[in-house]
Amino acid sequence: MSNEKKLRSHDWFGKSDKMGFVHRSWFRTQGYPDDYFVNRPVIGICNTWSELTPCNGHLRDFAEVVKRGVLEAGGFPVEFPVTSLGETVMRPTSMLFRNLASMDTEESIRANPLDGVVLLTGCDKTTPSTLMGACSVDLPTIIVPGGPMLNGRFRGECIGSGSFNWMIKEKQGVENYTPEDIHEVETGVARSQGHCMTMGTASTMACMAESLGLTLPGAAAIPAVDARKKLMAQLSGRRIVEMVREGLKLSRILTRQAFENAIVVNSAIGGSTNFIIHLLAIAGRIGVPLALEDFDALGGKIPLLLNLKPSGSYLMEDFYYAGGLPVIIREMRSYLHNDALTVNGKSLGANCAVSPCYNTDVIAPLERPLQHEAGMAVLKGNLCEQGAVIKPSAASPHLLKHRGRAVVFESMEDYHARIDDPALEIDGSCVIVLKGVGPVGYPGMPEVGNVDLPMQLLQKGVKDMVRISDGRMSGTAGGTVVLHVSPESSVGGTLALVRDGDMIELDVAARRLHLDVPDEELAARKAQWMPPEPATTRGYVRLYIDHVQQAHLGADMDILRGGSGGEVRRDLH
Ligand code: FES
Repeated sequence: MSNEKKLRSHDWFGKSDKMGFVHRSWFRTQGYPDDYFVNRPVIGICNTWSELTPCNGHLRDFAEVVKRGVLEAGGFPVEFPVTSLGETVMRPTSMLFRNLASMDTEESIRANPLDGVVLLTGCDKTTPSTLMGACSVDLPTIIVPGGPMLNGRFRGECIGSGSFNWMIKEKQGVENYTPEDIHEVETGVARSQGHCMTMGTASTMACMAESLGLTLPGAAAIPAVDARKKLMAQLSGRRIVEMVREGLKLSRILTRQAFENAIVVNSAIGGSTNFIIHLLAIAGRIGVPLALEDFDALGGKIPLLLNLKPSGSYLMEDFYYAGGLPVIIREMRSYLHNDALTVNGKSLGANCAVSPCYNTDVIAPLERPLQHEAGMAVLKGNLCEQGAVIKPSAASPHLLKHRGRAVVFESMEDYHARIDDPALEIDGSCVIVLKGVGPVGYPGMPEVGNVDLPMQLLQKGVKDMVRISDGRMSGTAGGTVVLHVSPESSVGGTLALVRDGDMIELDVAARRLHLDVPDEELAARKAQWMPPEPATTRGYVRLYIDHVQQAHLGADMDILRGGSGGEVRRDLH
């Protein structure tokens, strides 16, 4: 093979010295014949399978399918596990461990004889964490998204996983759902393998990967249990071998244009606010300049085409049957860099040029969008000097311009202790302020920004209120929720200084979030402010607290930004 020298793995398996012997000999415990060690691209299948991450429970099988494709194309597949992040069970929040999983992925790729990588992903954080790690090594890389669950079903209705969680308090307290009712939902809402099937964060991440050009066309929306998902996995296995031979590294695909495309597409699909924090972190790893303000400037005025829960009516299964993401990309072509390169070696525009829509209720045409301006709004003001985020399409229109009295909770524990106290002085015009849920403060920036409303107001029929925090919000949730306030309260941002009774002004059209307290008074409060004790003094969490950056930078750790490439200077001696 003419490009023998180009294979990174040759440095391990191609040598005739003692270490070449060692590298090959121990691999032979798995029964590989001689020809596996000669000029075959070694493809690492980075698997986030775990029974503790139910959304990724099928990826063990998928790895075998990817291996078929790698072998067919003349590659040498080797599967390896990395830290898997299960959204629904990890405490205090899976986000605390996104950067840890990225470190695991990065070092696992770099330290081993790999020429290319397939990332098997699914549940929310498993896509950004592995992609961040892969970016810091920058080998040829392809993503196989694990796919959404089938539609949830309850008494003849389609229901979305994740989204129902946010209704349970209201269902129990106002609509008198019994434990049997809740059990029936519980068994019908997550009824197949796959990740959440609303346009929550997992679906958003799959669409992000496809719009960045990192999956084969159409991969994002295929349900996990559809045979065509396995077909996509097998074809991805074949393709990664070709990518190695072509030298098609991540950095050739992940250009500034690719990131701009992803922002436009995310607005058109009504993707999760978590998209912002993860895309910023990914851009930081691959070295593409991207700022919080870009999300508003590039995506703020993009029309909404996709009618999916939580803000719409349908689910990912319906999206796939309607034609999937290629339809959105074709419809949005006038907003996109259509010549952006993708993993199949063709441009994004060429991949999606012929992508018919089979259901315009699910995917609206560009000339008749569901909303005219659907992207995220980035707010600025004295309450968020480095920015905050709101998703207007998930908010109540009458609250997008609002002035209200602050009702302040100093922590999640404080919120839980007092929110349903009948003596709490609160009405529907108040602004709920939640502190201590940022990257440093919680730690890990949990998805709690969309806190439930107090029962006393739910029972009066109040459906939404302005809520402000330094935390995040699940992509499956909605409401007039201001998130990612930066700097966060625990590092002394103005949010830390808000007191009960202060007046707060939100004006989304003007992109303004203002605490109506005189500067001198804020200065006096700041002088009295004491930073909280760190949540721990040791281990990874201490490392995280010491190095995590604020939300407007993507909440990556400062020591992880950028990359170190694939070279390892010291040999195994
Ligand atoms: Fe895994 Fe929603 S809990 S994707």
